[in-house]
Amino acid sequence: MRHKDFISIHDLSVDEVYHIFELAKEMKSNPKKFSKSLEGKILALIFEKPSLRTRVSFEVGIRQLGGDAIYLAPSDIQMGKRESVYDVGKTLERMVDGIMIRTFGHEIVLELARAVKIPVINGLTDLLHPCQAMADYFTILEKKGDLKNLKVVFVGDGNNVCHSLMFGAAKLGVNFWAATPKGYEPKKEIYELALEDAKETGAKITVVNDPKEAVKDADVVYTDVWASMGQESEAEIRKKIFQPYQVNKELFSLAKPDALFMHCLPAHRGEEVTNDVIDSPNSVVFDEAENRLHVQKAIMYELMKDKD
Ligand code: CP
Ligand code: NVA
Repeated sequence: MRHKDFISIHDLSVDEVYHIFELAKEMKSNPKKFSKSLEGKILALIFEKPSLRTRVSFEVGIRQLGGDAIYLAPSDIQMGKRESVYDVGKTLERMVDGIMIRTFGHEIVLELARAVKIPVINGLTDLLHPCQAMADYFTILEKKGDLKNLKVVFVGDGNNVCHSLMFGAAKLGVNFWAATPKGYEPKKEIYELALEDAKETGAKITVVNDPKEAVKDADVVYTDVWASMGQESEAEIRKKIFQPYQVNKELFSLAKPDALFMHCLPAHRGEEVTNDVIDSPNSVVFDEAENRLHVQKAIMYELMKDKD
């Protein structure tokens, strides 16, 4: 990859995205071949929010590549409070070979990446969740064989996961729809950047407020929690606003019969998705979770392998 960091799918070329998919596929089918690829390399994992999948997939992933990880919990560093983002970065770069960070403000990741010479990987911000969307398109590719001309529909909050899926769609020529309540649409600046990429790839990006119109004939129906980490105080009010966007049997039945149901997890069963959908044979939510491991191994390898 041309880049030092992995912060947004928007930064990658189409070829770079497919290269990561190819490498992830090889690593998934032949993990032993890569068991010493990052021997001796240490990745610091900075978490300012909770995690299951991101933490486990990065820890297991770097170990499977011969390296190791150090988990830094929210109470350990307190970036910006105990010390500045810059000082955290300058200290870590003297000791580790890469940093994965999950935090609130996207600008914190950008600031950290500017401060250090070592690679920085975005493990989720309020704005984006690029590792998730990479694993999701890799999963769709595995299941459907091709991404072109697929209708991928995100139903719910125009949040970090929706933004990264939109960027991925624009890069990969996917027909992407987002159906959100009024006032919860994806951010305009993300939509506009995605449209720039879409011009080159022929992707179509549509944002609507009607979930039924969006889900009609979909190849993939994707949803996420209605209140993301950091929005807990809005959870009750959001439950009422988002109820018509619940992915239940009735809404899902408007999609193609072989449509995939996707969710980044954690899921709030009975809220954004009902059990009969998330537990149905169409659901690939645990494939998505597993593929976080393979895709992130490919990303770590590309960023952290010895360049000489
Ligand atoms: N999908 C995802 O990022 O899960 P975690 O929040 O558990 O890491
Ligand atoms: N939108 C969710 C994704 C969790 C993986 C959040 O930010 O909490």
